Amino acid sequence: MGERMRYAGIPGVEKPVSRILFGAGGGRFWQGERMDELLDAVFALGVTAFDTARVYGDSEKVLGDWLERRNLREKVVLLSKCAHPDLTGGTKRVNEREIRRDFEISSRCLKTDYIDIYLLHRDDPQVEAGLLVELLNAMHAEGKIGAFGGSNWTRRRIEEANEYAYRRNLIPFTVSSPNYGLARQEKTKIGDCVTLSGLEDAEEKAWYAESQMPLLAYSALGAGFFSGRFQSGDGEAALENADAFFRSVYGSPDNFERLRRCEELAKEKGCKVSTLALAWIFAGPLNTFAVVSTGSPKRMEENIEALHLPLAEAERRYLNLEERE
Ligand SMILES: NC(=O)c1ccc[n+]([C@@H]2O[C@H](COP(=O)([O-])OP(=O)(O)OC[C@H]3O[C@@H](n4cnc5c(N)ncnc54)[C@H](OP(=O)(O)O)[C@@H]3O)[C@@H](O)[C@H]2O)c1
Repeated sequence: MGERMRYAGIPGVEKPVSRILFGAGGGRFWQGERMDELLDAVFALGVTAFDTARVYGDSEKVLGDWLERRNLREKVVLLSKCAHPDLTGGTKRVNEREIRRDFEISSRCLKTDYIDIYLLHRDDPQVEAGLLVELLNAMHAEGKIGAFGGSNWTRRRIEEANEYAYRRNLIPFTVSSPNYGLARQEKTKIGDCVTLSGLEDAEEKAWYAESQMPLLAYSALGAGFFSGRFQSGDGEAALENADAFFRSVYGSPDNFERLRRCEELAKEKGCKVSTLALAWIFAGPLNTFAVVSTGSPKRMEENIEALHLPLAEAERRYLNLEERE
């Protein structure tokens, strides 16, 4: 078991990181349900990295309890995120006091004194990146965190942080987690989240290709847009039962065309739409990992097969509508 998974290094993380991270951001984790069976099963499939956040309800606690019961802490890579804006008022929290407070609560819930990958869940461009680099270096020196970086940080802000780090011989951000996948997110609907999906942001993508900074693509299946539950032939009616936010973020004609092409190519290749959509993420020149959530070990097994599905460059471009440029 587990031999189909692939692993890669992330500077600052002592263990190899599975190319597919399990996303523990969803409902049952959030609600604090005991998820031992699912977690045992995905771990047996070789998923050794788990994505959670301080702001995901009881998700950290569910993971921490499972790790303790199974005595697995040393075998997994834990990724957690801090400094999310206040969920009620949206007040930004990217400052030392809130970050340290988040860490203390996260480490208690996760039942560990050490988080392998620690990300700022959002940015606040008003805060000097250098201050955050100093803080994260201090937390690293205290043995609290391994690799660190930003989720929903733009390339410019990552560069700002890293130029500061290089000038002072400090540890730079070595990992980034924006949204990335075949399903394009509608930027006007996602607030201060950062997406690299779609045809925009060529310079950002070129920077990731050049720097090879590990890119942990969240909502890698477009939050289920490429799950196979929606069919392009149904047009807009396909999303009739989806919630309004999902429809506004993913329900564009462009995405339906991506889905149509994905269905067509998946049929030719004899695989599922979801497997092909994930293979798309791994096929490009970026150093990608995919953060995927599922309630089913069987579906995680299919997702892992995406790591072995060859995709020609022309197919990759076709799926993302790039030949229309
Ligand atoms: N950093 C951030 O700001 C941020 C933001 C959003 C999400 N995230 C992270 O990313 C994780 C995943 O994001 P997400 O849940 O939005 O989206 P996702 O992983 O793109 O999509 C999840 C959906 O895909 C379905 N799915 C997964 N594998 C499948 C398969 N093989 N066949 C068919 N359907 C499949 C799941 O259904 P089933 O459950 O029924 O299998 C679920 O409905 C979150 O849990 C969280 O950890 C991070």
